[in-house]
Amino acid sequence: MCPAMERAPTGIQGLDELIEGGFPRNASVLVTGTPGTAKTTLALQFLVNGILKHNENGLYFGPGVYLNEVAAQFGRYGYDLKKLQDEGRLIMLAPKVKVEEGEDYVKTLFDENLKKKIVDSNVKRIVIDSITLILMFAGEFGGRRRNVERIIEYLKDLGVTSILIQEKHVGGKEEIEYGMEEFVVDGIMYMQLIRIGNIFRRAITILKMKGTKHSMDIHPVMLEEGGIKVYSRDRIYQ
Ligand SMILES: Nc1ncnc2c1ncn2[C@@H]1O[C@H](COP(=O)(O)OP(=O)(O)O)[C@@H](O)[C@H]1O
Ligand SMILES: [Mg+2]
Repeated sequence: MCPAMERAPTGIQGLDELIEGGFPRNASVLVTGTPGTAKTTLALQFLVNGILKHNENGLYFGPGVYLNEVAAQFGRYGYDLKKLQDEGRLIMLAPKVKVEEGEDYVKTLFDENLKKKIVDSNVKRIVIDSITLILMFAGEFGGRRRNVERIIEYLKDLGVTSILIQEKHVGGKEEIEYGMEEFVVDGIMYMQLIRIGNIFRRAITILKMKGTKHSMDIHPVMLEEGGIKVYSRDRIYQ
């Protein structure tokens, strides 16, 4: 038997047991779904758990995002993101999205300054919220696939484990549509709102995880005191 891959546990209740203990270390995992499916919440939980449970510093990178609102929303689950930032264990950045004509936004964002900040702050986990927005303003050379590769190469060089958030417009029972991101990333987690009778329920499915034997079931997701939870033993049937 080959030795098992080194893991970065998400620390999210129910999730790690679906993926052999966590994301493969140094992997880039796409978290995809329509608005309100709790992508940002899951990603922040991954960062905060990294800091509090595994002593790994984190970076939340959200171009155009209102950081105060993000911190306030996540704060309601009982976490003080301000304190973690003051302690130098969490960095939250929201670069502006005023892209000039012809500018290559990938190059602008992922520069040497950011690299230095990541290395100096000993960041081991990164969340990019969202890759969809960044790709809208990326350079044309090599197309969308090459641009995703550039971002992933940058992250892998830094030796971090990352979540890339993708914003989908179509959810529900439709076939999943694939762009280019999906082919390049190491893992894909699909978050959905599924209608069951009169209500919508939150759900997650692991569609891909490099070097990992994983569940393909649709598992319920709940937002509770303490944060996001995956109900790994339950399944949603449509
Ligand atoms: N304190 C809370 N308790 C339970 N659910 C919440 C709380 N705050 C926000 N939510 C739910 O979380 C959703 C937003 O989650 P978010 O992670 O921002 O989604 P996404 O990033 O996929 O758009 C809201 O639409 C709301 O339904
Ligand atoms: Mg979000």
